[in-house]
Amino acid sequence: MATIREVTLSSCEKPMPVIGMGTCSYPPADLETTKSAIIEAIKAGYRHFDTAFAYGSEKPLGEAIAEALRLGLVKSRDELFITTKLWSSFAERDQIVPACKMSLQNLHLDYIDMYLIHWPLRLSGMIRSTPVEKDIVKPLDVKGVWEGMEECVKLGLTKGIGVSNFSCKKLEEVLSVATIPPAINQVELNPVWQQKQLREFCKAKGIYITAYSPLGANNTKWGDNRVMESDVLAEIAKSRGKTSAQVALRWVYEQGVSLVTKSYNKERMKQNLQIFDWSLSEEELQKISQIPQRKGVTIASVLGPHDFVLELDAEV
Ligand SMILES: NC(=O)c1ccc[n+]([C@@H]2O[C@H](COP(=O)([O-])OP(=O)(O)OC[C@H]3O[C@@H](n4cnc5c(N)ncnc54)[C@H](OP(=O)(O)O)[C@@H]3O)[C@@H](O)[C@H]2O)c1
Repeated sequence: MATIREVTLSSCEKPMPVIGMGTCSYPPADLETTKSAIIEAIKAGYRHFDTAFAYGSEKPLGEAIAEALRLGLVKSRDELFITTKLWSSFAERDQIVPACKMSLQNLHLDYIDMYLIHWPLRLSGMIRSTPVEKDIVKPLDVKGVWEGMEECVKLGLTKGIGVSNFSCKKLEEVLSVATIPPAINQVELNPVWQQKQLREFCKAKGIYITAYSPLGANNTKWGDNRVMESDVLAEIAKSRGKTSAQVALRWVYEQGVSLVTKSYNKERMKQNLQIFDWSLSEEELQKISQIPQRKGVTIASVLGPHDFVLELDAEV
């Protein structure tokens, strides 16, 4: 079983495993498939799991945790680090504690390790289909929402709080009102979307970045194959006896960030952990730094190309 390094976070007492298993699958996996993939992941050594109310994977994750405890794969729930996210339909001051409690109920847990604001916006209702009407998309009341997130910490519902898909500008807004600063900003980050400016900003502010879609979310509706089919990564992989996926993940790790990647395939989930006992050379890093850049995941591709959404997507 692989051992995964842990990182210390600024405003969360519990260390976080630097690699987490993502649970957002495409096409959406059924409960049993998700549950058994998570149990396989625990057997392989994963201890950090990334879910969200919006993914519908909180319940199977909760069932998998209960099963792993029954089977003795982990001795106590404390050995796991669970991240989930506040959905934008609940991103209002008085709805945050109830939303967090709902996630805890789905997960059958007493506490979450990391609770993130999923998107830097509010939706004025539940969405049943996408794209949505433009009037449903509202700006986030940063002060009120962050107060609600801090209340979740004070009530012991979560150990840490953070954000996701936040730009430097949006992070500044949070920092200006925070008593507990965000520990994490979870964003798209991979060799074709390297996020240099955001990485530097977060490092200076003590906010740890977690990279999502580190493989470019290949074979999903929201991603593409540009990472997995990059000639630069393929050439490095060939010369090092690694896969392109391992080169991409190693590169992400070497940027001093944590990552969440999804595989429900037993061999690939193991392969994705084999990135700690080797490193990229200066020359290889140089080649990767020159890969043309393009953002893969946009909020507009989900909600529609409304002006406000396009403005958010354009922020660095
Ligand atoms: N905060 C946010 O807004 C946000 C947005 C997107 C994602 N996320 C989180 O981040 C997690 C990871 O990102 P992601 O799922 O978008 O993308 P990803 O991890 O970059 O890619 C997942 C895709 O790559 C495949 N894959 C995994 N390992 C592979 C390997 N070694 N070789 C070839 N293919 C491989 C997976 O298929 P198999 O399962 O068949 O291996 C799946 O199709 C998500 O599951 C979710 O938890 C968060």
